[in-house]
Amino acid sequence: MEKDLLTIKDLTGEEVMELFQLAKEIKNNIDAHRKDLAGKVLAMIFEKPSLRTRVTFETGIYQLGGIGIYLAPQDIQLGKREAVEDVARNLSRWVDGIMIRTFGQDILEKMAENATVPVINALSDLYHPCQILADLFTIWEKGHDLKNFTLAYVGDGNNIAHSLIWGAARTGMKLRIATPKGYEPNMEIVEAARREGAHIELYTDPREAVKGVDAIYTDVWASMGQEAEREKRLKVFPPYQVNMELFSLAKETAYFMHCLPAHRGEEVTDEVLDHPRSIVLDQAENRLHIQKAIMRRLMG
Ligand code: CP
Ligand code: NVA
Repeated sequence: MEKDLLTIKDLTGEEVMELFQLAKEIKNNIDAHRKDLAGKVLAMIFEKPSLRTRVTFETGIYQLGGIGIYLAPQDIQLGKREAVEDVARNLSRWVDGIMIRTFGQDILEKMAENATVPVINALSDLYHPCQILADLFTIWEKGHDLKNFTLAYVGDGNNIAHSLIWGAARTGMKLRIATPKGYEPNMEIVEAARREGAHIELYTDPREAVKGVDAIYTDVWASMGQEAEREKRLKVFPPYQVNMELFSLAKETAYFMHCLPAHRGEEVTDEVLDHPRSIVLDQAENRLHIQKAIMRRLMG
């Protein structure tokens, strides 16, 4: 694996499968891994809020014998109080890894270029690789061959959609994406992934996109940082709500997936989010296990 994990694009298909195997091993046998990262320290930089990412990284490194240091948005003030390059150089003298949740992908790249320790993307405006690795691991550990699995992502063409695109490219999963006009994923990413063998179909009609699929995935209509667009988006996105009517167009066995946090009654109804075939809590749990595998690979 490369020094950093900034996007799933930087992983090979084999590396993704190795991470899945390692995550499974650590999940099933944590006591054999309690010293894997003994004495190691992870700096955790957050420029946006979080529940899952903070708790799973902090718990994960602790369970492997190390410790995480939470740095809130007001602590570092990246690029304001201090340049990103200088933060990277300073942290590299003290800690063994840097996890960062930020806005632009360029900030992550600058951090990675200037840090001598691994940098892990814990969500940017463009990508959320740890989430999608957890999601695909969740499908895989339920016994599915990702090459024979079709997932429909319905909603905003955002960081989750972009990471699903590279996840599909690296695992062979078939991906359908249904968005309103003007909210499509970045076409450069779609085309680049297609050139690398990804099977991606774009739709505007969510009903067509979900027909017969193995899983439906959605996310909030306004991501962190897009709060000013919320009202406008609330008018555009209702036809893309995942409700029982839409869910019933997928396979009878289809899963419902969401990275969470969910806005109940907006992108998903209570009935679907709380449905027996909703696997959102398995996805959330697996953040813990896949990130332990990622940290072990990069920092071990
Ligand atoms: N899915 C996810 O990253 O959740 P948080 O924003 O709560 O970390
Ligand atoms: N697209 C969402 C994902 C949250 C985990 C956001 O960026 O806010």
